[in-house]
Amino acid sequence: MNKVMIIDHPLIRHKISLMRDENTGTRDFRILVEEVAMLMGYEALRDLPTELVSVKTPITRAEVPMLSGKKLAVVPILRAGLGMVNGILALVPSAKVGHIGLYRDEETHEPHEYFCKLPDSIKERLVILPDPMLATGGSAIAAVDLIKAKGCKNIKYMCVIAAPEGLKALHDAHPDIDIYVGCLDEKLNGDAYIVPGLGDAGDRIFGTK
Ligand code: PRP
Ligand code: URA
Repeated sequence: MNKVMIIDHPLIRHKISLMRDENTGTRDFRILVEEVAMLMGYEALRDLPTELVSVKTPITRAEVPMLSGKKLAVVPILRAGLGMVNGILALVPSAKVGHIGLYRDEETHEPHEYFCKLPDSIKERLVILPDPMLATGGSAIAAVDLIKAKGCKNIKYMCVIAAPEGLKALHDAHPDIDIYVGCLDEKLNGDAYIVPGLGDAGDRIFGTK
């Protein structure tokens, strides 16, 4: 069953509010984006498959659940998605990590691919695709197109903030993936920035302008 889930949790709401504040500097912004990614990951990974494994406790032998299946892959959309990776890896430390490089043209807002390196056997893995911002949806749609072209079928996209326009565009283009959103904002402005949003996530994570 595919999901579009707005994760409505006071801890996530609070941390995103701190991220929105223009006075939040690079160091704190980085910490917050990682924390939000971890909290969202906890929810997004709720349906990971488990299998029973026999373990001897100090008391007795027991059949206990452990994660099963091929290790998942975390594939951030560069640059800003990088800020979410460690939060997800805190939950699943042995996950593989790939990278998709996309930048949004400032005039047309169209995504352009400049890098793609994915773990082996990617089509057999659950792929987590983190990116803090879902604005027009162009970058997310292009990233999912690319991952699907490699044969992946099990994809979960995660963003901290989404605009309604981008969420609809992504869901319309790829209704078969799960989408997790930290907070759904009001709209896009004329420059295709999310309102109220938090500005340029990549610049805020890396301290660039
Ligand atoms: C930002 C953001 C998304 C994209 C969202 O990246 O991290 O990838 O814009 O916009 P969209 O939904 O309209 O495509 P950007 O292209 O600015 O690159 P960066 O992460 O390198 O700063
Ligand atoms: N990319 C960002 O980083 N922020 C926005 O508001 C829109 C696109």
